[in-house]
Amino acid sequence: MRGFFFLAGLLMSASVFAQSPANVQDRLKAIAADPVALRTAIDGGKKITFFCANCHGEDGNSKLPDVPNLAGQNPAYLLEQIRKFGSGERKDAFMQGLIKVLKDEERIQVATYYASMTVPPSRADAALVPQGKELFGKLCVRCHGEQARGNEAIARLAGQKSTYLQTTITRYRDKTGVRNNQLMSIATATLKNEEIVAVANYLTQLP
Ligand code: HEC
Ligand code: HEC
Repeated sequence: MRGFFFLAGLLMSASVFAQSPANVQDRLKAIAADPVALRTAIDGGKKITFFCANCHGEDGNSKLPDVPNLAGQNPAYLLEQIRKFGSGERKDAFMQGLIKVLKDEERIQVATYYASMTVPPSRADAALVPQGKELFGKLCVRCHGEQARGNEAIARLAGQKSTYLQTTITRYRDKTGVRNNQLMSIATATLKNEEIVAVANYLTQLP
């Protein structure tokens, strides 16, 4: 009997462990470090994303202003956002429902696939770029990096859709509850609407 409880306990803790975000991120790292596993994950991800392509584009470059590019995005960031949609911490009725059907391994493959694609710079209003650059240097560069390419935990912003950037930055600033991140709410608190437009124009044209 004791043996049974021990086994049941072990199985339960194993399944809890399998869903913990840290474990999924570790698995992503292990795959990234192994060229054969990486290739397999990219191929698997491509198959899963045939449906996602309707909005996010064939290669992760969206043609819709409100839909983010996923190409070239940091895989750990993508995986974390997928987790947040799944748990309801990030709100979008469609994405929340859709992401629930993806298993952990499929989520990892999707993130790996999109990260392996490239995002080209988009056109911007050149008159706004210098102001956007200055604001970025003052308020954002220390986290998102000199080239706005982010890092493991932080989103790439370079080449992202201008409209999506504006909507997202405004949501953080106004604490609408769609996306909750204190660091981002603090970083954007002083931005005026015109400044958000300028920052977005700067970021979208970066390679
Ligand atoms: C009907 C259109 C649609 C489809 C299909 C769709 N998405 Fe999305 N997705 C969106 C929109 C819109 C957003 C932005 C939500 C917001 O405003 O925060 C988004 C956001 C995301 C993000 C967050 C990106 C970021 O920069 O933070 C990820 C990751 C994502 N989608 C993955 C997927 C995957 C994987 C699939 C396929 C399994 C998929 N999406 C299918 C519309 C779609
Ligand atoms: C202290 C660190 C920090 C600073 C400073 C910062 N950010 Fe962020 N940013 C983050 C983190 C962490 C996230 C991911 C938050 C989440 O999961 O919602 C993020 C996410 C974002 C996103 C969402 C990206 C996507 O694909 O949806 C945008 C846009 C963004 N930041 C823009 C900015 C801008 C513009 C500034 C400067 C005004 C800025 N950030 C300053 C840490 C920072």
